[in-house]
Amino acid sequence: MKIVFATNNKNKLSEIRGILGAGFEVVSLAEIGCNDDIPETGATLIDNAIQKAQYVFDKYGYSCFADDTGLEVDALGGEPGVHSARYAEGTDHDSNANMEKLLRKLGDNTNRKARFRTVIALLEKQENKEGGVGIATLHTFEGKVEGTIITEKRGNEGFGYDPIFMPEGYDKTFAELGIDMKNIISHRARAVKKLAGYLMKN
Ligand code: IMP
Repeated sequence: MKIVFATNNKNKLSEIRGILGAGFEVVSLAEIGCNDDIPETGATLIDNAIQKAQYVFDKYGYSCFADDTGLEVDALGGEPGVHSARYAEGTDHDSNANMEKLLRKLGDNTNRKARFRTVIALLEKQENKEGGVGIATLHTFEGKVEGTIITEKRGNEGFGYDPIFMPEGYDKTFAELGIDMKNIISHRARAVKKLAGYLMKN
């Protein structure tokens, strides 16, 4: 079965390909010739994931899934949440600026509880005897990991907010735990496993 993952992120692609195995042909945006800057203007993670999957389905007619992730800090009312990639004003995926802003806003607050949440929207193409793009059904999957925000950066692996996020039950940050462990316990791994479970049953 051919299915598009609305990303060009190589780590995400190899993670899902590893979980799904040879029965599924998971292709990236580049592999279907899509070089568009797909809009992500939703107010929530799930809105954004649906928006990306819908864009690909409408334009190319393939079954497609898309993900969106946010870090939710309780003492900041759930910030940065859907704005995680561009939390520091005027930046785009600038991890250091984002972490600095987060640590500054949290200050010496003793409530450091936070979680990463990943949502995946899958648009599954339905048989369409009349031809054309047809319709798709929507399924959503979610994975989250609880943890705390520490007071200064630790570790060199991973990306994004990994150096300041310590998952519950561990005394190391995601950036210290490393990619192999992270791929087992992370928010994204949990959401991807749910998606894989669904795809393999259907
Ligand atoms: P995306 O939806 O996967 O692009 O994630 C949006 C933003 O959330 C990224 O730019 C990162 O700042 C942050 N983020 C997502 N996943 C992770 C993670 O596993 N570790 C740390 N930060 C992450």
